[in-house]
Amino acid sequence: MTVHDILNESTKSLEAVAIPSARLDAEVLLSFCLGCDRLEFYKNSDMTISETKLAAFRNLIARRIKWEPVAYITGRKEFWSFTVEVNSSVLIPRPDTEVIVEETINICGKIDSSEIKILDIGTGSGAIALALAKEISQAKVMATDISPAALNQAKKNACAMQMDNKIDFRHGNLFEPVEGVFDIIVCNPPYISTKDYEELPAGVRDYEPAIALLAGKKGTEFYEKLIYQAIDHLEKNGWLLMEIGAKQEKTVREIIEESGFYDSVEMRRDYAGLPRVMRARRK
Ligand SMILES: C[S@@+](CC[C@H](N)C(=O)[O-])C[C@H]1O[C@@H](n2cnc3c(N)ncnc32)[C@H](O)[C@@H]1O
Repeated sequence: MTVHDILNESTKSLEAVAIPSARLDAEVLLSFCLGCDRLEFYKNSDMTISETKLAAFRNLIARRIKWEPVAYITGRKEFWSFTVEVNSSVLIPRPDTEVIVEETINICGKIDSSEIKILDIGTGSGAIALALAKEISQAKVMATDISPAALNQAKKNACAMQMDNKIDFRHGNLFEPVEGVFDIIVCNPPYISTKDYEELPAGVRDYEPAIALLAGKKGTEFYEKLIYQAIDHLEKNGWLLMEIGAKQEKTVREIIEESGFYDSVEMRRDYAGLPRVMRARRK
């Protein structure tokens, strides 16, 4: 079979189970399987594929037909300006999460200090912590996760990027493994309610770790703990930045304001125009 034929065949198989990005996914998986760039397909669409490669590729497509995310199949995902290794113990980092990185960099640009202490709670693959350690030269980063498997993957990613000496990884629940105070605390917490969890696309619900997504009946339970516990770990005028779900701005703002410990509460939208990051300053 030629590249052209196999791409058409696999796109149809993926469309048949309503995978929204069928053609793109087929191309990404074929390029992963053949170890070449997608551009090569357009230049060489008549190129034939060996039986062994064809069997391996069909195996990948069979996994995608069951809605396994492409990133888990290839074991990697681009985030910010780098690629992280992912497995089923970590949430696949989303492009929207780059907004919290941008906001943190903006805040750091206004801090005149030779060292900026940053804490990333629930680091998952390490995506946010790695981006901040990479971009902010004065950053001293600590990153935590309740999942030992996620933390192992984050450490592996840090080693691969030669950043392991810039990030202090700690295992535990919220602030339990953390001592000291920070200039900035960032967190992309679990924020899906029990009801919304059932309605997530199969590729998310059946494959990504529930502990990274589920936050209780209302979906805002994690914020309640985070906002109150962060008070003891923020410098005066230190910032708390949290990713939020599109419908959570009002509730998260109320939790922050009711605590009475923060000012300068602001929301930043993502590039789709949806509420994405809340930030607040410790009084
Ligand atoms: C939404 S994921 C975010 C992962 C990563 N920061 C990102 O943005 O791609 C939430 C992460 O928080 C971790 N987590 C859940 N509950 C936690 C807790 N009580 N304490 C610390 N980490 C927790 C999960 O294991 C998961 O890695």
